[in-house]
Amino acid sequence: MEKNSKKTFYITTPIYYVNDIPHIGHAYTTIIADAIGRFKKLQGNDVFFLTGTDEHGQKVEKAAAERGLTPKEWADQVVGRFKDLWKALNISYDYFIRTTEPFHEKGVQKIFQKLKDKGDIYKGVYKGWYCVTNEHFLSEDVPLEKDGYKICPECGTRAEILSEECYFFKLSAYQDRLLDYYARNPTFVRPPSRMNEVVSFARQGLKDLSITRTTVKWGVPVPDDPDHTIYVWFDALHNYVTAIGYDWNMDRFERYWPATIHLIGKDILRFHAIFWPAFLMAAEFPLPHIVFGHGWWLKDKTKMSKSKGNVLDPHVILKTFRSDPLRYFLLREIPIGLDGNFSHEGFIHRVNSDLANDLGNLVQRTLTMIQNYFNGKIDEIDEENEGDKKLRLEFDAVKEKVLKLYENYAINRALEEVWAYINSVNKYLADNEPWKLAKDTTQRKRLGRILFQAAAAIRTISYFIFPIMPESSAKIWDYLGEEKLIQEELFSELKFENFKLEQKIKQSRPLFPRIALQDFLKEEAPPPAQPKMEEKMEYITFDEFKRMDLRVGEILNAEKVEGTDKLVKLEVDIGTEKRTMVAGVADVYSPDELAGKKVIVIVNLKPAVIRGVESQGMLLAAEVEGKATIPFFPEDVPAGAKVV
Ligand code: MSP
Repeated sequence: MEKNSKKTFYITTPIYYVNDIPHIGHAYTTIIADAIGRFKKLQGNDVFFLTGTDEHGQKVEKAAAERGLTPKEWADQVVGRFKDLWKALNISYDYFIRTTEPFHEKGVQKIFQKLKDKGDIYKGVYKGWYCVTNEHFLSEDVPLEKDGYKICPECGTRAEILSEECYFFKLSAYQDRLLDYYARNPTFVRPPSRMNEVVSFARQGLKDLSITRTTVKWGVPVPDDPDHTIYVWFDALHNYVTAIGYDWNMDRFERYWPATIHLIGKDILRFHAIFWPAFLMAAEFPLPHIVFGHGWWLKDKTKMSKSKGNVLDPHVILKTFRSDPLRYFLLREIPIGLDGNFSHEGFIHRVNSDLANDLGNLVQRTLTMIQNYFNGKIDEIDEENEGDKKLRLEFDAVKEKVLKLYENYAINRALEEVWAYINSVNKYLADNEPWKLAKDTTQRKRLGRILFQAAAAIRTISYFIFPIMPESSAKIWDYLGEEKLIQEELFSELKFENFKLEQKIKQSRPLFPRIALQDFLKEEAPPPAQPKMEEKMEYITFDEFKRMDLRVGEILNAEKVEGTDKLVKLEVDIGTEKRTMVAGVADVYSPDELAGKKVIVIVNLKPAVIRGVESQGMLLAAEVEGKATIPFFPEDVPAGAKVV
């Protein structure tokens, strides 16, 4: 499947939105990509592994405004969270792209211009139902609800009618070429069920795609027409080409493009398997080899996502475990194409049984016996008998199977094979009972042979699991007294015989301590409702408090921000001047109720643009179950009075 003699392998994850903080779902895609990338390196490929963040668009604009930050300031914070998590999870990416990087923005504009010059992008007017949460127009077959609105089928929120002048991409012109491409490359989309989904969607007829917005300011401007912003998906998808050098390092771009595999969640299949190849065809770039749509991690049977409030934070697990058990669980539990239900019970159970019992015990007791009976160095072995030979030959069969399964991205099946081998080694020890032989000095060579076979098998096992559990596997390798790193031995060079007689074994430590479910759940439980002030409170100084300019403001005028349920635009007299502010209280207070009221406002908060309106301050309110309660002053308190 490799595209040239250099055997490059370019693997990508989606770039994650920065309106969300990373959760187990994001970690899943990135861990799969990391494992595949590591495996491909073991095969001697020149691997490039890309991940990053998708930083433009309305959702990011909104998330930042809610926090009184600029979109870039907010993005910087979230990027830090993603990078920290990738570090904690041992993710070995080669580049982390941010779509706010100038080279990316320039590259996107260049491609846009190229397509416009060719006539594949043209100007028109689009009217349709738009989902703000997912930043896309709903497809026309989404039915109208009883109340006259359309609901986004992906996130369940209410869509809005949007009509605007915009640029279109001539997707319709690519329908036949796409269908032809799918027919000639039936494994382009994986797993096969997703290929069928894509083909049947394309067969229904592809309409031209609106790819710019005038309502969104936070994005890449259209070249020579800056009132229009390039649609976040057109912008985001091109990260796959700009990150490796399109338009700024063409040698590198040509070395790695086309991507070998775009790994994505099934939620964004259409963007990657229909729009993206069409954009690439238009730009006359070769197409990626594979788009792999993996399943979702569900919590309580629904997709984990911030909008549903059911996300699991990987840090809960990382507080107690290192990254390997989490990586193992996510990759072992389900095949890459299917959904899985995540539970901490399931996690603990698998870690205790597969890692602590099967693998951990095998390594610990074998290496301890080598320490105790041979002072860490097996120096005498007898001839291989049938049982010894069987264990060695089984390795050859396992290696072949594991290789094929890894190559087909069937990681969970590969791990099953490795675990079957672990069980064979455990059985070999149980059958041969080396602890009994150790009591008989005439059996020293036999004892040596048994421990030698077991150690040689463990060496291969630690090699097999390296892509999934790099940290533990490197530890085992080190305990075995290996001098080079695992990465320095190619998969093709891996042999049972690579473990040498007289290799000096180091003192080992238990790899995967057993954690009882109750103990873990206790750890995970939220802190007591009434934490002691001195422990939990983050204090600010009086000087810091004094920096806030809090005043009484009189609401002169209030009106709802069109197209939103929650936002109201206020004109507020703060004593010295009139200010415009946007507040998220319209679900509780009508504009009439607000007009004439005196409220507390913070007037030196950095202005932020919310839904196209510059908010020059913020009113204070209590939040009770997500709803605002505003404290109002009596009428005789003058506007502008300081609140201290
Ligand atoms: N920014 C777009 C992608 C642009 S790619 C050019 C986006 N971002 S996202 O933050 O919503 O992340 C989407 C990806 O995160 C999914 O495609 C999937 O890979 C991963 N997951 C998010 N939630 C998930 C689960 N609950 N389960 C598994 N993976 C999930 O879409």
